[in-house]
This record gives sequence, C-alpha cells and structure tokens, in this order.
Amino acid sequence: MAEQVTTDLLVSDDRRHLLHPYQIFDSYLVDPVLPIVKGADARLIDNDGNAYIDAVGGMWCTNIGLGRDEMADAIAAQVRELAYANPFVDVTNVPAVQLAKKLAELAPGDLNHVFFTTGGSTAIDAAFRLIHFYQHCRGLDDKRHVISRNGAYHGSTYASVSIGGKEGDRPPGYQFIEDGIHHLTSPKYFRCEAGRSEQEFADDLVAEFEQMIASLGGPSQVAAFFAEPIMGSGGVILPPADYLQRMWKICKENDILYVSDEVVTGFGRLGEWFVSESIFGIQPDLMTTAKGVDVGLLATGGACVLR
Ligand SMILES: Cc1ncc(COP(=O)(O)O)c(C=O)c1O
Repeated sequence: MAEQVTTDLLVSDDRRHLLHPYQIFDSYLVDPVLPIVKGADARLIDNDGNAYIDAVGGMWCTNIGLGRDEMADAIAAQVRELAYANPFVDVTNVPAVQLAKKLAELAPGDLNHVFFTTGGSTAIDAAFRLIHFYQHCRGLDDKRHVISRNGAYHGSTYASVSIGGKEGDRPPGYQFIEDGIHHLTSPKYFRCEAGRSEQEFADDLVAEFEQMIASLGGPSQVAAFFAEPIMGSGGVILPPADYLQRMWKICKENDILYVSDEVVTGFGRLGEWFVSESIFGIQPDLMTTAKGVDVGLLATGGACVLR
C-alpha cells in the first residue's frame, strides 16, 4: 500500500498545481480544501479518516455508490479484452454497439441513435451542432435560433455554458455565444411574482415562449428548445404541472426540436431510467444524458440520443 501523504502536503500541492472547476480565484489560496482519499457506498473519507455523506452523488453521477468490486472487475476485464478502438467513420466495437442498443431501448419514443460523448457538456454541444446541421440538411438555414431558460445548467463547455442560463456562470470577462441563443424565465414558481397561482405562472411561461418565437421572426427562425425536466444545478426546480408538456406541444406545433437534458435526471435518480416520457409525458426529439451512464467510473460518459 502506498504511504499516506500528509494532509498539509496534499493541501499545499493542490494549491500549487491543481486548478479546480469553478475555482474562486479571490480566495482559493487561503480558503481550506478538503482532500478526499476513499469512497465507499454513499460515503467519502478524507485524508484524516473523517467520513462524509456524498449527498450530491459526486457531481450528480455516482448513482450506484462508490467502491463497488463488481464494477472494478468488469472494467478490468474490458481493459484486458479491448481498452480502446477508434470508432471513427466505419470502425466499430462490441461495447459501443451494445451500449448504443441498450440506450436506444431505454430512451423515450423513437430515439434510436446514440452519439457518444465524453460527458454531459459535450452531449449538449453535440446536440447543438446536430440541430444546426439537421436544419441545414432540410434547407432551413434560417432556422437557427435556440431557446433555453434562465437558471438552466447545461454544462461548462463554450456552447453548453452559453445555452445554460445561470447568472453565476457568467462572470465578467468570460465570452459567451450570444448570437442565436435566448433565455426564457426560469420555471421556479417559488420566485414568481407574488399572488400568481401555479397555473397562472405556467400560463405566463408558455405565453412568454410563444412571444419569444414570434419576436425571433416566427418558427421558421427557431431551431430548438433546450430544457432539463427538473432543473438541477439551478436549484432543483420542479416545474409547474403541465408546463413541460405545454412547451413540448408548442415545439411540435411549430416544428421546433425539443431537447430534453436528462444528464442529471436519467439513470434512476427519479426511479426511472429516463423521466421525459415516463414522468412528464413528453417525447423529446433529442435527449442528452451522462453522469449515471458510467456512474463516475470512466472518463468517457455521455450521449446525445436522437432519431
Ligand atoms: C442538466 C445538466 N446538463 C449537462 C451537464 C454537464 O455535464 P458534465 O458535467 O458531464 O459535462 C450537467 C452537469 O451537472 C447538468 O446538470
């Protein structure tokens, strides 16, 4: 067994060499950092032996818990058999085919094709690119605007963070894609104008969507709508009843692609494989997923699923 590194050394090496996602630059050199060294089931253990409940599930991804021998064995067996094979163009491999088939079986409606990515952000990027390519192939190059919501989190790459709508993800000085990406009001009933019933609030949200489509020049200009079934990082926001179904119907009536971002909600988090259809009654045109697909065990781990 490797000799235990002291907590002080880990902390000082971390500060010297590791740039964390969402690092707070103003204070990171003085604020404490917590070195985690082990995981078992839903617990994380720090370098001094203290245990913590991994309440977020990693970053919403350790859906089956940590330290599972059968997963380590399965990964080791696959690494021995075939660790990597280039899947570009006309070469394929057994695990990729089998996982794509399984995802197609589990995905809602007629989503039957899977494009694997390295995570949720790149699944959103893939969806964004495919949407524009699809509209182009139909001869509809003007149909290029995409609509998302304030408070949404869709990832941290350039395109996915731009599609997201969290204020905290837009620090001054960062550049975002602003041309062609638009944001509607968050479906957060708790923060809506005082005195509105949940139904009235949903009516407002739907009307705002219709107005935004009109203001962009009508459906001929709008390519897609992106939405998490339940906003995760934006505050775990359960939308008003019927809201998602009504947004989906508007998409269908206006030939606008509905992208359901199930990166967090998929793979059992809500007791279902995916929730778009089974809980919310919608059949998206594209679905993005990640996290629970590899439960945080591998560096690869996302997919954009489409017809
Ligand atoms: C809804 C949603 N979409 C996309 C992402 C990005 O996924 P990843 O962190 O795998 O890039 C996240 C990450 O938390 C997410 O919550």
